[in-house]
Amino acid sequence: MSNKVAVVTGSSSGFGLLTVVELAKAGFFVVATMRQPERRTRLDQALAAANPELSSRVEVRQLDVTAFDSIPGIVADIVRDHGRIDVLVNNAGFAVGGFAEDVQLDELRLQMDTNFFGQVPVTKAVLPTMRAQRSGHVIIVSSILGLMSQPVVSSYCASKHALEGWAESLRIEMRSLGVKVVLVEPGAYATDIWTRNVVISRVATSGESPNSERNRRFVQGVKEQSSRHADPLEVARLITRIAQDPKPRLRYLAGRDAKMGHFLRALIPWNTWEGMIEKRMKVG
Ligand SMILES: NC(=O)c1ccc[n+]([C@@H]2O[C@H](COP(=O)([O-])OP(=O)(O)OC[C@H]3O[C@@H](n4cnc5c(N)ncnc54)[C@H](OP(=O)(O)O)[C@@H]3O)[C@@H](O)[C@H]2O)c1
Repeated sequence: MSNKVAVVTGSSSGFGLLTVVELAKAGFFVVATMRQPERRTRLDQALAAANPELSSRVEVRQLDVTAFDSIPGIVADIVRDHGRIDVLVNNAGFAVGGFAEDVQLDELRLQMDTNFFGQVPVTKAVLPTMRAQRSGHVIIVSSILGLMSQPVVSSYCASKHALEGWAESLRIEMRSLGVKVVLVEPGAYATDIWTRNVVISRVATSGESPNSERNRRFVQGVKEQSSRHADPLEVARLITRIAQDPKPRLRYLAGRDAKMGHFLRALIPWNTWEGMIEKRMKVG
């Protein structure tokens, strides 16, 4: 077992939960943070199912990425108790759905606060420790939608595009200090982001939206595609490999849909592309 310490945000489900298990299996001591520690049952069950010894390598702590003022203190406590942080996995996030015309400013703000502004104070709180160690991996769970946008998730795309731009700059700034900043860009994977954690804009669900019929068709299309979502363990294993790679790349696309979409987007002229997406997403 190594003495390396990893911190993961949003560990109560999906990629975060699975990444905690995979990092612990790889020998890390993992601080699994979640906004509601009472939701730790699924993580405890997954750890016990993987190996009953594993829970001794995992500790759950409360961290809400939108409670900005509390973050420096929480990270300071982790450093005080464990002496170092080798890996930060910025994973917490959710998706706001709804036509841009319908999404209210407070809904867009919550999306940006969680998916973008939330990652900033967590990263900034960890950087002094990594700088002093002259080593560390900051792994940011972005999305293929941080590179190319789709309709009806404009808020989500904006938040992930912001993360991409911020991370690219940070990567170069931290390069000479031994800190590696990495973006993971998954396509569609079967996690709670599509079910329990999806937030549909109030106007879209109120019946007042001028986009009601298009919205209905879009939701129907998403439902039809949901059986094709990939196994999230793939992403947890990718993150764990990156965490152990001394020379990680800036970007890692994850999933066939993300890789194919990215390839086609570079190949197909925009005017053709937008018509294809409009048809595929049933928003025309
Ligand atoms: N699944 C996909 O298809 C996909 C594709 C591309 C990128 N992603 C990205 O992957 C990341 C993880 O999502 P997932 O797919 O694993 O979905 P998920 O199962 O819904 O997990 C999201 C996690 O984020 C947590 N979270 C939400 N708001 C938070 C906050 N304010 N503070 C702390 N934690 C918070 C949730 O906590 P609660 O349990 O308390 O709700 C949950 O643990 C997200 O950044 C998402 O954008 C997902």
